[in-house]
Amino acid sequence: GSVVLVTGASSGIGAATAHRLAGAGARLVLHGRDADRLTAVAAATGGTALTVDLSGPAGARALARAAVEVAGQVDVLVSNAGRGWCGPLPAMTGAQVGEVVAVNLVSPIELTRALLPGMLARGHGRLVYVGSIAARTGVAEEAVYAASKAGVDGFAESLRFELAGTGLGVSVVVPGVVATPFFARRGRPYRRSLPRPVAPETVAAVIERMIVTGRAERHVPGWLAVPAALRVVAPSAYRWLAARF
Ligand code: NAI
Repeated sequence: GSVVLVTGASSGIGAATAHRLAGAGARLVLHGRDADRLTAVAAATGGTALTVDLSGPAGARALARAAVEVAGQVDVLVSNAGRGWCGPLPAMTGAQVGEVVAVNLVSPIELTRALLPGMLARGHGRLVYVGSIAARTGVAEEAVYAASKAGVDGFAESLRFELAGTGLGVSVVVPGVVATPFFARRGRPYRRSLPRPVAPETVAAVIERMIVTGRAERHVPGWLAVPAALRVVAPSAYRWLAARF
């Protein structure tokens, strides 16, 4: 099977993706920040665990090197690690801003930069990025998170043009509300104001489909597909809905 590197595989969407791809026969290299939880996922899926902190630019390059070292090559990148829960903008320090942008945007770019030459040489590869609907709807107290995720979207959309005809596929999955620790960290009033979350397995199934078909696509799982479509046809209706999320 192909070698798949999944970042942020210690929980949530990343762990669900690891389980799903293991069932499909992929060889997994699993990244996480929390060694204990990552080891458990790796043991359950037969993957190799690599613990790296991605809150600076050097982490991604070290991770790419380590992944190629343990697996020989990387055929598929699932760039999923991310952090949000920023809080009010004036309360954020410059270091916190840098950290959010490093994990969510710089690390995916640096991982891609490190892995692309090998994929291009082989004429085959898949790059799947996890964005967020926050980049489009906006979410209070998540301005930096939303900005970083909008960056991922723009990066992937542009890379797709750059890589046309190379045999490499670039996709973005744009989750809405997903039942993971990431989401559970938010307070109850926050969660109550949102629609029912989708399961991480739902997002994992979309990621697997993107890898299998290699078709360039951008997919919004679950209920948020509706406002995303409305945004195109009826901006005012979209704003009305977005204000209620
Ligand atoms: P999660 O909290 O279960 O997983 C996040 C993963 O990112 C963990 O494996 C964690 O180790 C890794 N990570 C965080 N900071 C890191 C750092 N400094 N260095 C290395 N790794 C780090 O959350 P979930 O929901 O599975 O998140 C996965 C992706 O989905 C993230 O990119 C998130 O932004 C995105 N997303 C989640 C939504 C949700 O409602 N849960 C909605 C939209 C997007």
